[in-house]
Amino acid sequence: MGRRWGLLVGVLGAVWLLGSGQGGRQPAESAAQRCFCQVSGYLDDCTCDVETIDRFNNYRLFPRLQNLLESDYFRYYKVNLKRPCPFWNDISQCGRRDCAVKPCQSDEVPDGIKSVSYKYSEEANSLIEECEQAERLGAVDESLSEETQKAVLQWTKHDDSSDNFCEADDIQSPDAEYVDLLLNPERYTGYKGPDAWKIWNVIYEENCFKPQTIKRPLNPLASGQGKSEGLCVEKRAFYRLISGLHASINVHLSARYLLQDTWLEKKWGHNVTEFQQRFDGILTKGEGPRRLKNLYFLYLIELRALSKVVPFFERPDFQLFTGNKIQDAENKMLLLEILHEIKSFPLHFDENSFFAGDKKEANKLKEDFRLHFRNISRIMDCVGCLKCRLWGKLQTQGLGTALKILFSEKLIANMPESGPSYEFHLTRQEIVSLFNAFGRISTSVKELENFRKLLQNIH
Ligand SMILES: *[C@@H]1O[C@H](CO)[C@@H](O)[C@H](O)[C@H]1NC(C)=O
Ligand SMILES: *[C@@H]1O[C@H](CO)[C@@H](O)[C@H](O)[C@H]1NC(C)=O
Repeated sequence: MGRRWGLLVGVLGAVWLLGSGQGGRQPAESAAQRCFCQVSGYLDDCTCDVETIDRFNNYRLFPRLQNLLESDYFRYYKVNLKRPCPFWNDISQCGRRDCAVKPCQSDEVPDGIKSVSYKYSEEANSLIEECEQAERLGAVDESLSEETQKAVLQWTKHDDSSDNFCEADDIQSPDAEYVDLLLNPERYTGYKGPDAWKIWNVIYEENCFKPQTIKRPLNPLASGQGKSEGLCVEKRAFYRLISGLHASINVHLSARYLLQDTWLEKKWGHNVTEFQQRFDGILTKGEGPRRLKNLYFLYLIELRALSKVVPFFERPDFQLFTGNKIQDAENKMLLLEILHEIKSFPLHFDENSFFAGDKKEANKLKEDFRLHFRNISRIMDCVGCLKCRLWGKLQTQGLGTALKILFSEKLIANMPESGPSYEFHLTRQEIVSLFNAFGRISTSVKELENFRKLLQNIH
């Protein structure tokens, strides 16, 4: 009952806002204020403020995270960019050179990463093989300690597909290739116009929850205003995550804009005009600052997921396995350092407000949420620009992994009181996408500081 009433009030509120021409002109504001005036203080639906995030991210997290992401374990991402679009077939491939992705030569990627059998570590892996064999023979090797036997058997049994928010990319397919993320950076590609619009429109229109009674474009870059009033907290959160992802991608494109394109040299850098067109409060009729707030919201969600999954990475047998023992050990230390820093963040998002309430209704909602999200990960196969498809897939998979962590029953049931649960499992693919996706958002938050400074010089 309460929810329905809330919905009605929300819908009326949204209609009223549409009619009242919200976001009216306030000429006295400076360029910087017009993008950032609302992007300060407390964020909706959580108890964290933007300034705390900025300080935490820009000075403590960002530099170390960049270091980690440059390591072999994190830079090579296996992806199938040739999957057909499941929803329509008139994809016009972007032919521009900047849209292309250069896959790795087979000898570039360390063997330890390529060998599919190294799921956890060499030791754990041979244990699994032994155990699987023993199981087939109808007996578990008695020489293993009871604890190890139990753990190993559990490892071999994670069928956690029901926890997954993303369509598993078929990385075993012959079409899947390793891509060096450092050599194929996310930046302005020139991919825009109707095709790029179509993707975001489909995502917002068909896959974001929206109040059924309002018929208007939900894509906030379209002429109407995208509002999420009138939705329950979970559906509003879903919308905000997608909007945050969209905003983050646009921050990168504005920060790595192709400024100069001659046969002699290409120069990439900040394009303040582009940034303003997407985020200026007046130019976007009030939507820009809201998008930036959603970006912070996305940041908090992924940050919280990382803090929650620390015990998984703390297991002594967990390795960032590439085959280089010394480097692997150093990287694990850096990873744990970063994770402990994240854990110490004082104002973590409280995901317990999600999917609470009536158990049956909450489960239905969670399932809805999952299906919608999986759909979005499939839509990424319809992006015509391969570079954009690569980063789109990586970032949705990363966010999907974060959601899997936040809402996994196994994790909730087993951590942290009872220590790490061996039932909860992340693949290398999920780990690489989780950290790289968070790395992108962390970069966006850092870039906002740069744009803030650049805008202060403009009036
Ligand atoms: C910056 O972006 C705008 C579009 O937003 C474009 O018109 C302009 O040419 C770009 N500036 C440079 C130096 O490329
Ligand atoms: C998935 O996306 C397609 C294409 O946009 C749409 O037709 C379908 O209704 C979506 N399903 C869900 C569960 O969102």
